[in-house]
Amino acid sequence: MNSAIQKLYTQIPSTYELVNHLLTFGMDIWWRRSAIKKIENQYGVRWLDVCTGTGETAANLSKQANNGNQVFATDFSLPMISLAKKKPEGNRIKFSISEIKNLPFPDNTFDLITISFATRNIDINRQILIQSFTEIRRVLKSGGQFINLETSQPKSLFIRYFFHLYVKIFIRPIGKAVSGSKSAYTYLASTIPKFYHAEELKQIIIESGFQTVEYQHLLFGAAAIHSSIK
Ligand SMILES: C[S@@+](CC[C@H](N)C(=O)[O-])C[C@H]1O[C@@H](n2cnc3c(N)ncnc32)[C@H](O)[C@@H]1O
Repeated sequence: MNSAIQKLYTQIPSTYELVNHLLTFGMDIWWRRSAIKKIENQYGVRWLDVCTGTGETAANLSKQANNGNQVFATDFSLPMISLAKKKPEGNRIKFSISEIKNLPFPDNTFDLITISFATRNIDINRQILIQSFTEIRRVLKSGGQFINLETSQPKSLFIRYFFHLYVKIFIRPIGKAVSGSKSAYTYLASTIPKFYHAEELKQIIIESGFQTVEYQHLLFGAAAIHSSIK
């Protein structure tokens, strides 16, 4: 378990969503909705949001769920998940505390698994990401869908330059001013320019055992949604 990351998420839960909305001009809300729109089978029985944090994507899943769906959410940070439980949709979601590389569910449990803005935080290391996606695949049913929403790298060098400049100039001061934690937002900002291009992330997901992966760029490639069926 990465205790440094876990510690970081004890510093920012109460302001986490506000900082995201400020830094993305509210686009993170729309990006989450776009990820949910990729769901192919609305009638799957069990849906899981991993690394759920304060539960924004899990809440969206719960709103989307038909009466027959059961939404689960998991994260290794108790302070983050405590806030998720307080959301209006919280009492309809089954929460658990767990490390992504060791999910507390039997093989072939879920029809849908989502992860949003967390893959980058698990680790940038390719092998650790493969281990994490392999674990996600283990608990996904055959025919089940995996949806990954994460920051990415714009293809255009020109746009990428300004994207990285924006990250460098604004994330740390705004994150610090609102949350009070300089170290958390120094770390979070540092991972964005280092993360994979959408095509590279697709290859990592394929190396984890998924066969076909599709992706969509958001905002010229500043973020991307990857989707795959097991
Ligand atoms: C940037 S937040 C994203 C939260 C939420 N998914 C969202 O869309 O806002 C990253 C979350 O991933 C969780 N996380 C990071 N590494 C993890 C790991 N190895 N196992 C479980 N949760 C992890 C953190 O605790 C944190 O709540």
